Amino acid sequence: MSSMCGIIGVKGKSNSSQLVLKGLKRMEYRGYDSWGIAMANRKLKVVKEVGKISDVAIRPFIIDGSQLAIGHTRWATHGLVTKENAHPHLSCNGEVAIVHNGIIENYQELKKELIEKGHKFRSATDSETIAHLIEENLNKGFPEAVRLAFSRLQGRNAMCAISTSSHELVGARNGSPLIVGLNDTDAFIASDIPAFLENTRNIAYLDDLEMAVFDKSVKFFDVMTGKPVQKKIEHISWNIEQAKKGDYPHYMIKEILEQTQSIERAAKQDKRQLLGIAKEIRKAKGSFLVACGTSGYAAMEAQYFFSGIAGKHLNSVVGSEFSSFRHFLTPKSLIIAISQSGETADTLEAVDVARKMKSRVISIVNVMGSSLARQSDHFFLTNAGPEICVCSTKAFTSQLSVLLLLAYASAGKLSEGISLLQDTADQVKLMLNDGFLAKLRKLSASLAQKDDIYVIGRGLNYPIALEAALKIKEVSYIHAEGFAAGELKHGVIALVEKGTPCIAFVSNDEHRQATLSGAIEMKSRGGFIIGISPEQDEAFDAWIPVPDAGNAQPLVNVIPAQLLAYYLAVARHLDPDKPRNLAKSVTVK
Ligand code: G6P
Repeated sequence: MSSMCGIIGVKGKSNSSQLVLKGLKRMEYRGYDSWGIAMANRKLKVVKEVGKISDVAIRPFIIDGSQLAIGHTRWATHGLVTKENAHPHLSCNGEVAIVHNGIIENYQELKKELIEKGHKFRSATDSETIAHLIEENLNKGFPEAVRLAFSRLQGRNAMCAISTSSHELVGARNGSPLIVGLNDTDAFIASDIPAFLENTRNIAYLDDLEMAVFDKSVKFFDVMTGKPVQKKIEHISWNIEQAKKGDYPHYMIKEILEQTQSIERAAKQDKRQLLGIAKEIRKAKGSFLVACGTSGYAAMEAQYFFSGIAGKHLNSVVGSEFSSFRHFLTPKSLIIAISQSGETADTLEAVDVARKMKSRVISIVNVMGSSLARQSDHFFLTNAGPEICVCSTKAFTSQLSVLLLLAYASAGKLSEGISLLQDTADQVKLMLNDGFLAKLRKLSASLAQKDDIYVIGRGLNYPIALEAALKIKEVSYIHAEGFAAGELKHGVIALVEKGTPCIAFVSNDEHRQATLSGAIEMKSRGGFIIGISPEQDEAFDAWIPVPDAGNAQPLVNVIPAQLLAYYLAVARHLDPDKPRNLAKSVTVK
């Protein structure tokens, strides 16, 4: 019934619906099941469709001439993907349209109350409740009616609403992101910055329980008290070129190749801050790394970094499991939360749990001004630039870079860490040559019809084996599983048959021989062994040579796995930027 998605509202001179449509196209990575736009002139005009917004032409919208419009791109969580359930949703009198991102946890109770008052619901969504709740209080003025409606919603939510009678746009947030963008002629409010980056880089971040009212100018208010709040207008450094695909066929390949620059950028952290946080990590009684998905594997990798480099034990836990460990939290505990978007609900919930126990929260985020950055005592920006492809690539190696620096700083060897990362960045530049890409493309073409792929690694390469399998699953839909190489013999090997592709990460470290033994065990059962390793070995049926990068080996090793996943998707005629059933920012539990 509910959705987690991209929302946008524009109050502009004359082409708001066109700006909304463009913004939705830029936010499609947040959801691509269905989309919709409402434009307000004297009456509301609503367009809704099931399917991807990228296929929609802008031209018919240009002539609309509306000054006020809102839009939505949907990633359904509970409800069916239908035109009725697509946003915007309207009030009974057709005067108010809303778009919503999140889940209204108390919507059943609200819906019952509204139905008793005579409201007619047209969809099966929780979101429609907002339109009817606003309608209930329209006599108090539109912004006030929105405020009263929003203050009754439970859960993590963000919304935009427009009204034909007052001709205002209102946006409010509590737990899901909303950012205001302003230029001389147009005012924007959206779930993410790329939605309006082409038009302005002057922005204001809404905090939880704040709302923005766009009339002749924009004003900000506290949702609970209705009192005005002052907001700082900030200038952001991202530019639209970074958020565009350019000459690349997909964002995924563009972002993989950007790792020739992004690792270097991530390594440029303030040394004093790194040393300060390292000191906190050393002093803390219990440190946890919390994250989800690919960022979760960066957290897991950090355990190995801290153990091997600084002799320090940190616990990594995925966001959704974190609350089970809350009993160990005290004001002396430290939480390091890692997230590309800074908006993942499971990670934010974990941070809420930690805050309740008064533990310190440090975060590593890519999106400046994101909820996670704002809720942390201290944050590091990974500076990977906008990551648009649903599956994470460059953000991952940037997170690893910051974590590696923290581990080195905790060991009192920060300069060693900095020069290691600099060398690694140079090695990655050399590795990503045309021949390397061609080799992976060819290998992928030969694997594209396989049903299963297994991936093994030990030590630093274990989280990378898991991440490699995740990448393959996410974009090629081939069943892939990553294992600790030592676990093979405890069960998994039963699955290996003649011709089963097995990727082995074999590095020049203490685990080299043991990992090779695992590869040979699979080969003896008919497995086709793909070695990702600085050195050739007779166990390998195919060899992907990578540079020897010491403790930074995970950063180097994951890149051929990302490429393999990408080329597998392309060989299977799939769109790697928009994998089925997935969304970039999962802002619901
Ligand atoms: C979603 C994305 C993944 C991502 C995860 C965590 O599931 O599809 O690619 O790794 O969220 O996202 P975050 O923004 O917190 O790193």
